[in-house]
Amino acid sequence: MIDTVKLHYAELGQGMPIVLIHGFPLAHTIWNAQAEALSDSYRVITPDLRGHGQSPAPEGVYHMDLLAREIAALLDDLGIEQAVWVAQSMGGYVAMAALRLFPERFRGIGLVATHPHADSDEKRADRMAAANSALANGSQAVADAMLPILFAPEFDLESETAVTLSRLMARTAPQGIAGAQRGMAARPDSVATLQATTIPALVIAGAQDQIVDPDVSQRMAATMPNAMFVPIEHAGHMPMLEQPDATTDALRAFMTTLTSS
Ligand code: MLT
Repeated sequence: MIDTVKLHYAELGQGMPIVLIHGFPLAHTIWNAQAEALSDSYRVITPDLRGHGQSPAPEGVYHMDLLAREIAALLDDLGIEQAVWVAQSMGGYVAMAALRLFPERFRGIGLVATHPHADSDEKRADRMAAANSALANGSQAVADAMLPILFAPEFDLESETAVTLSRLMARTAPQGIAGAQRGMAARPDSVATLQATTIPALVIAGAQDQIVDPDVSQRMAATMPNAMFVPIEHAGHMPMLEQPDATTDALRAFMTTLTSS
């Protein structure tokens, strides 16, 4: 029996379900602009992953498969069989796990500022150290270290958007940060899963992403049989915040191809 938690989530609109999944160590509110805009035509679900936002933050390793199952359980509770899963960074790792576990739950997949590769040994060791450091020193230090690399270099880190995001990260429970880092360290490579899927896919990359190289995202899209690639200029790892309209437009254009097919 899997030890799952009930996720906090927000829901807006009606129509084809689209679930927007945030990255690490963030929360569903990063998608507010897209959720609001897309809710004119779609049923938009924005969950907080375990350990993030207002969802419970138990101890333990947050395996990507577990996070994927918790989203599927949320969709079950909402009576949703199939959805378009759109996911940023760590959220993308979760969506790739879900695609491997239950592809039948996907009407489409949107991968934002993410990549399919497992960690190197060095990266795994860094994550274990970061997990211990979050537990020892708290979340503010994590927020301070991450903020400058989340946005394109030109982005104003004193803007309201950046300050709000920093506060959001600082409010993430240290146990949530540790669990997610340990879970990401344990994740498998997802290249084969993506290569094998014919589910329609959208890959969005911030052209100035300092965390996930946009060329890697582009190569990921090129290996997927049914994917389109949309680079977003003047955006880093957070295109939904840095270029909200361009991100919404890309998602809407993708959704339109799904509803018209
Ligand atoms: C994220 O933005 O979700 C994380 O930085 C991804 C990662 O650490 O690999």
